[in-house]
Amino acid sequence: MTANASAPETNVIATTMSDYVAEHPRLKYLFFGGKGGVGKTVMAGATALWSAVAGRRTLLASTNPVHSLSGLLDQDVFGRQVAVAGVPNLFAYEIDTRETIERSKREIRDKIQWFLKFAEVSTKADEFVESATMNPAFEESAMFENMIDLMFKDEYEVYVFDTAPTANARRLLGMSKVYGLWVNKMMKSREEAQGLRQLLSFTKKKEADPLMEYLIEFRGRIEHARELLTDEQRTAFFFVTLPEALPIAVIARFINWFHEFGIPVGGVLVNMRIDRSVVGADTAEFVRNRLAMQDEHMATIWEKFDGQVRAVVPLFEDEVRGTAMLRRLADALFLPETGALGTGRERVP
Ligand SMILES: Nc1ncnc2c1ncn2[C@@H]1O[C@H](COP(=O)(O)OP(=O)(O)OP(=O)(O)O)[C@@H](O)[C@H]1O
Ligand SMILES: [Mg+2]
Repeated sequence: MTANASAPETNVIATTMSDYVAEHPRLKYLFFGGKGGVGKTVMAGATALWSAVAGRRTLLASTNPVHSLSGLLDQDVFGRQVAVAGVPNLFAYEIDTRETIERSKREIRDKIQWFLKFAEVSTKADEFVESATMNPAFEESAMFENMIDLMFKDEYEVYVFDTAPTANARRLLGMSKVYGLWVNKMMKSREEAQGLRQLLSFTKKKEADPLMEYLIEFRGRIEHARELLTDEQRTAFFFVTLPEALPIAVIARFINWFHEFGIPVGGVLVNMRIDRSVVGADTAEFVRNRLAMQDEHMATIWEKFDGQVRAVVPLFEDEVRGTAMLRRLADALFLPETGALGTGRERVP
């Protein structure tokens, strides 16, 4: 069944957001992706708040260089993990992008310097470091590494990541096979070289090999990250869209990629749906037109994402800011009364 302009929403959500969470009791890493401005930050915030209110120690983390968590929460959470005022169990953290990138550069510099010394090449490391780090892909991957580190530290029961590094996760997982092969090959030739060295040296003492250690560690990290990110009991990516053509096209593409790489898709969250119960004949024409436009796109959404829609969240009369408003959004997301439009009970347990 599809909705049309004159009929009320008749589609029923088979598996709601609450159903999904209940069916995945070990869910630990939640990501929110989607086109710019569709509500990824507020959905991540509401989900983290929901999880914390349910008694789980939860971290809401942002990897977006243009942060918005401090604004959302009316609290400075930049560069450190901060307890959110008024919400027990909830912590928020805007990762310091600059600091992360600088630290990654230092690490790379050390490795390159060590390698040049090892290979007895008398070139300054700086040129290599510059060319290796002066590109957006490096910054992205530094942020991704930082996110992975947070996950590995395992200090929270639930992690909610605002601004899923969608393209990055996909790239990393696509690359993990290639990385694996490459690292194995590198290790093999390192082992051969080591063997030869030992054979030629008088002392039979095994030399420490930092490069080898690094390769082994790196391979382990990638493998571990891949395990976590593809485990559908623990990880879910949620895609936020508006009932509009472009955001729908964007997430349709993401979902296809994710299926290809075996990354678990939690579902689709539709945001800013106009509540038809407040739209009448005397409502401004542009609002009525907009509602009709949304109706058409909703029909596409039900069809395209059949069985994957987890919530339809209404457009509120005001922006979503502060924990009181987040609670309202969490209600719409997790407690929709009808499963059709988030006009449900306005409460959080
Ligand atoms: N259901 C809603 N009703 C009213 N306002 C909303 C709703 N959802 C989000 N907003 C507002 O829309 C704006 C964009 O939301 P948000 O910042 O979460 O989007 P985003 O996808 O994270 O954007 P970006 O891509 O820039 O990170 C914010 O001002 C937010 O308060
Ligand atoms: Mg955002």
